[in-house]
Amino acid sequence: MKKIFLMLFATAILFAACGAEPELPPEPEYIPAPYTLSFEEGLDGFEPRGNVTITRTNAQSHTGDYSLLVTERTSDWNGATLALPDALPFTEYEFIVWVMPTAASGTVTFQLSMEFNGATDPFWRNFDGANARAEARHGEWTMLRGVYTFPHFETVSVYIETRGAATAEFYLDNVLARPSTTAFAFQDYLPRLFEVYEDYFLIGTAVMPRDMLGTRFELIQHHFNAITAGNHMKPDHLQPTQGNFNFETADMILNTTVDNGMSMIGHTLAWHSQSPPWMNPPGTPREEAIRNLEAHIHEVASRYSGQIAVWDVVNEAFPSSVPPANAADWRANLRQTPWLDTIGYDYIEIAFRAAHAADPYAKLIYNDYNLDSPGKREAVFHMIQELLERGVPIHGVGMQAHYNMNTRPQNVRDSIERFAELGISVSITEFDITVQSSLGNERLTPEEEERQAILYAHLFMIFMENRDVIHRVTFWGIDDATSWRADRFPLLFNYDLSAKLAFYAVLDPEGFLRERGLLN
Ligand code: XIL
Repeated sequence: MKKIFLMLFATAILFAACGAEPELPPEPEYIPAPYTLSFEEGLDGFEPRGNVTITRTNAQSHTGDYSLLVTERTSDWNGATLALPDALPFTEYEFIVWVMPTAASGTVTFQLSMEFNGATDPFWRNFDGANARAEARHGEWTMLRGVYTFPHFETVSVYIETRGAATAEFYLDNVLARPSTTAFAFQDYLPRLFEVYEDYFLIGTAVMPRDMLGTRFELIQHHFNAITAGNHMKPDHLQPTQGNFNFETADMILNTTVDNGMSMIGHTLAWHSQSPPWMNPPGTPREEAIRNLEAHIHEVASRYSGQIAVWDVVNEAFPSSVPPANAADWRANLRQTPWLDTIGYDYIEIAFRAAHAADPYAKLIYNDYNLDSPGKREAVFHMIQELLERGVPIHGVGMQAHYNMNTRPQNVRDSIERFAELGISVSITEFDITVQSSLGNERLTPEEEERQAILYAHLFMIFMENRDVIHRVTFWGIDDATSWRADRFPLLFNYDLSAKLAFYAVLDPEGFLRERGLLN
């Protein structure tokens, strides 16, 4: 493995030495090549984890003729392990492996994990990422995929284990390991997205703590001027148990954002998801629930008062879809949530008033997804209209915009125009477009990349048409590999931070569509 790495690295240097075309933009400086293992020749460095047997077998294979079979397991942590002695320190790695239980083993939950060995005792971590744990059944290969920044340890081993299936036997095949984002220089010669749109609206991204340093942060500063914390300002993170606030990471993200001249977006104060159960368990008396809601909002919003440009005050108060026929009756259509259950429909109004009292400087928005669908659009429209009439401090609506290839641009346009009738601003708060047909693939095909970019361009044309009401367009993350929907390639940058076609589509939507004869 080490040899392959060195060879490819040497080849890259050789190419560079022979003189690249001077007029071409510089390529990222150091791109370590991915390596793949598929057991066609041997065990490829895999070893038993625990007292198990691992065998190369041609009974099953994901590609080629062979896979690796793990048998005689007695514990969940038993499996197959691969040492990565040449893992680059402080580098983010993407790791993919395909698994399948044997016919006798039933449905098995697999977990992708790693072990670090160095000066101190070994320690273990599960991989992050939407697919690092997955359920699999016989007859169908399932992909496990994880991303992790390896600290500087002598060895890092990656292994496949199970959850609640101590004796299950399984096959694995097609291992792909590649340094991911932080190993790469980003293309700093590209025009800055936020500058292109500076006169019209903010261009934002959602971040995890790892994004606030190094290359990833340089990329953020290059293209974005607004930051939303992807998870770290949510109620469960900030107040896991009553009265015990945990502001450390939120502070770090906010300070880094503000110190670097970007706008901080607060996300979110009242939500049914990622909220601690103690806040509003079933049966909580209304007055107590109101106290919990107001206390949380007061503590959080007043701490950051003057530093947060916009708060997503209430998130997702409606279900995924609302029947258009009686959408105007917004109360009847509210999502059944703990806040609704304990307080009643006025929890929304209470949350906005509390947020305004705690931070009179922040703009306050109502945020939700599927707002391009007509029923939900009307329900939200009527709710905000009534709240505004009652003098509730609500300044905008956030369309999350978690779209896919079936999203219809006309529906998005209709919603922006409808919300504009309320006289408040519209923000695109969590923009991404998934490519469903790539589900489970390791790469986006060029055809799909093209179609996705075209949809990005059409939607950005619509945002520009409505630039007078649009305050901000925020993407939900930076690159496909670390997206919350990483299995479906939703964002503007590849795993190595290189710009996808979608980036160029967003940079100049009109030119992008004209070039393809798609502008009428
Ligand atoms: C997502 C985060 O990106 C994930 O990391 C987390 O596991 C789940 O939440 N709507 C929202 C966001 O308002 O807060 C969600 O973010 C995505 C859907």
